[in-house]
Amino acid sequence: MNKPYVFITRKLPDEAIKPLTTLAEVKMWPYEDVPVTREVLLSEAKKADALFTMLSDRIDREVMEAGESLKVIANLAVGFDNIDVSFATERGIAICNTPDVLTDTTADLTFALLLATARRVVEAAEFVKAGEWKSWSPFLLAGHDVHHKTIGIVGMGKIGQAVAKRATGFEMNILYHNRSRNEEAERKLGATYCTFAELLEKSDFVVCLTPLTNETRWLFNREAFQMMKRSAIFINAARGAVVDEEALYDALINGEIAGAGLDVFEKEPIDRNHPLLALNNVVALPHIGSASVETRVKMMELCCRNIVAVLKGEAPETLVNQ
Ligand code: DGY
Repeated sequence: MNKPYVFITRKLPDEAIKPLTTLAEVKMWPYEDVPVTREVLLSEAKKADALFTMLSDRIDREVMEAGESLKVIANLAVGFDNIDVSFATERGIAICNTPDVLTDTTADLTFALLLATARRVVEAAEFVKAGEWKSWSPFLLAGHDVHHKTIGIVGMGKIGQAVAKRATGFEMNILYHNRSRNEEAERKLGATYCTFAELLEKSDFVVCLTPLTNETRWLFNREAFQMMKRSAIFINAARGAVVDEEALYDALINGEIAGAGLDVFEKEPIDRNHPLLALNNVVALPHIGSASVETRVKMMELCCRNIVAVLKGEAPETLVNQ
C-alpha cells in the first residue's frame, strides 16, 4: 500500500517532523524564510493527504478543491483565520491548530510589548546605540507607569487569562470584554466584565487578544480609538485585521491615544514605508507572539501528532471544526 503524502509549507527541522516521516512520504517547501508560492501549494495540495501549513498560507476553496485526497490540515498557530474552515468541514477535511502549548509564551510577549511600549524601551535602546545619550535628565525618555494601572483585555480566552495573570503581579486593575463572561477569570484573577465601550473608556492599556472573525474585523475603528483615554496605550497581539490601521494612525497622530504596541498587521510583512512605522510612539514587532524555540518545537510536535492521528483514522488532539 502506498504511504500517505504530507506536504509541509515551510522548511522545518528534520528532528521536529520525525513522527511524520515514519508513517508518510513527506515533502517540505525548501525555504525557512520564504513562503510557499501559490503555484506550488496548489500542485502539492493535489497529491496530499495532509498539509502542514503556516499562518501566512491562504488555505481557501481553491486549495481544498485541488486536494482531492486531503484529509487534514494542521496549521502551525492557534489562529486559523487563514483557513476557510466551513468549506473544509463541508469537504470533511479536519482542521487542527496549536492551542495551549503557546499560551504562556504568547502572554509573555504580549506583556513584554505592553511594558516596552509604556516605558519606551525600544526607543531608549536605539537612543543609546545611536550615541544620542549626552546627559541624564529628569524626563529623559520618561514613559508611563504600568503598575497599579487599569488593563482592559478584549478577548478573555486562554491567552487573555494568562496576560491577566501577569497583570496581577503588577497589581493592575483588570477589566475584560468577551463574547461570554469568563467566571474563572473573575474568580481567580479578580477580572471585571465590561461592555466594549466601558472597557475602552476606563482602560489605561487596551489589549487586543480576540481572534479574527467576521464579527471582529475592524473592531478597533475610529470610534473605538476616540473612546479611549488620551493617555491610553493600545496593544495588539491577535490579528492585524481586527484594527483599522488608518484609524489607529490618525488616533496616534492626533493625540487621541498615547501609543501602540503591535505584533500583528493587516498585511504581513508590513511595508517598511507604512506610516505607522514612522511614529516614535509605536513599537512594531514581526508577529513573534509564540516565537520561543521551546514553544515553536511544541507547536510542530502537536501538528505532527494531529496529522498522524487523522491519517491513522483516530481523533486529532486539537480539532477546530468540531
Ligand atoms: C498564533 O499562533 O495564532 C499567534 O499569532 C502566535 O504568534
